[in-house]
Amino acid sequence: MDLAPTEEQLLVQRTARDFAERVLIPKAPARDVSGEFPTAELKELAKLGLLAISVPDELGGAGAGTVAYSLAMQELARGDASVAVAVSVTNMVAELIALNASPALAKQWVPRLASGELVTGAFALSEPEAGSDPAAMRTLATKTASGWKISGTKQWITNGGHAGCMVVWAVTDPSAGHKGISAFVVDGKAPGVSVARLEEKLGLHGSATAQLVLENVEVGDDAVIGATGRGFALAMMALDGGRIGIASQAIGIARGALEAAVTYAKDRKTFGQEIIKHQAIGNMLADAATWLDASALMALRAAFLKEQKKPFSQEAAMAKLFATEHAWKICDIALQVHGGYGYVRDFPVERALRDVRVTRIYEGTSEIQRIVIARNLLRGLT
Ligand code: CAA
Repeated sequence: MDLAPTEEQLLVQRTARDFAERVLIPKAPARDVSGEFPTAELKELAKLGLLAISVPDELGGAGAGTVAYSLAMQELARGDASVAVAVSVTNMVAELIALNASPALAKQWVPRLASGELVTGAFALSEPEAGSDPAAMRTLATKTASGWKISGTKQWITNGGHAGCMVVWAVTDPSAGHKGISAFVVDGKAPGVSVARLEEKLGLHGSATAQLVLENVEVGDDAVIGATGRGFALAMMALDGGRIGIASQAIGIARGALEAAVTYAKDRKTFGQEIIKHQAIGNMLADAATWLDASALMALRAAFLKEQKKPFSQEAAMAKLFATEHAWKICDIALQVHGGYGYVRDFPVERALRDVRVTRIYEGTSEIQRIVIARNLLRGLT
């Protein structure tokens, strides 16, 4: 494995960094207050080829692979974590459809997701009583003459209410357990789809998190991704990839917080010297920098394996677990280094601490990642 990024990966990373510096960072504090959804920014990202980075180019994606995607996610999250999660979910939805749907279905939806026409995609799996255990979902798809009618409630849906294209999971055979779940592509504006509530969250204020109700939403037979009964496995496969995205998001948020802490610690003086020269502060920053580096290497390994089409479920779960748990600690250290100034809005670290918290929850909680890792250990996979 070559740790040096390719020219293409560097280009994607530089483009994302430039966009974050130019557009995202200046607007992030105001977006945190207003909660404005970043439609214009997502359309600009689409023009730069950053909305569907790992999606095949023949379907309008950048075709730049998962390593480039991870590097870009880190840069975007360093700029504004709310924008990064909208990109992450859109990329995941576009990739899921591109790699698993019929060519006609993929051609119908993926280019419009990648081009920003549909701003954005949504991944409608979780339900009020089925989050960590999606096999317990209740949303039902009943057969009609020409397709399916879907009814149910979906919870914690990122980009909910904005998504022009959703992948919706529903039970098509209640007697078959997880093998009776299917995945459908649903027009986000289809009759019967409504936003029941928009959640008010601790952080990620510029990201829309909705409870969606689907009431007799009609789709054709051709809206099924893969085949009926394949939905659960498709969700698991997509989440494996999504976990690399969220690990990368956490790394980006933590990097921004650590950079702010180092800048502050080099400037702020107590007891006659810059606080970074006090061993207590230096040690905290050294730990944070080490955790960040380890997280980045773990995310890179998982992304590399995915790109090589090798098994990567275990590595993605480990990267997400380690990166998100440590990103939380890094942001806490960054806040602590700022002292009282860290707790107020004049500095970016209080927002980083709020934004990063959810990375330990969504796309599979840390407890779920441990389940995945432990089950693989049980099977003898390391
Ligand atoms: N890839 C492919 N198939 C997989 C798989 C994987 N990684 N993991 C499991 N499967 C398959 C199994 O092989 C099995 O198939 P067979 O029956 O054909 O053998 C089937 O799926 C069931 O597997 P399990 O018995 O292991 O399933 P389980 O019900 O015990 O659950 C779990 C396993 C890993 C805990 C899973 O439920 C899980 O990942 N839960 C967390 C869900 C989650 O991450 N939700 C996040 C919501 S989306 C989100 O947050 C997006 C956002 O907005 C930011």
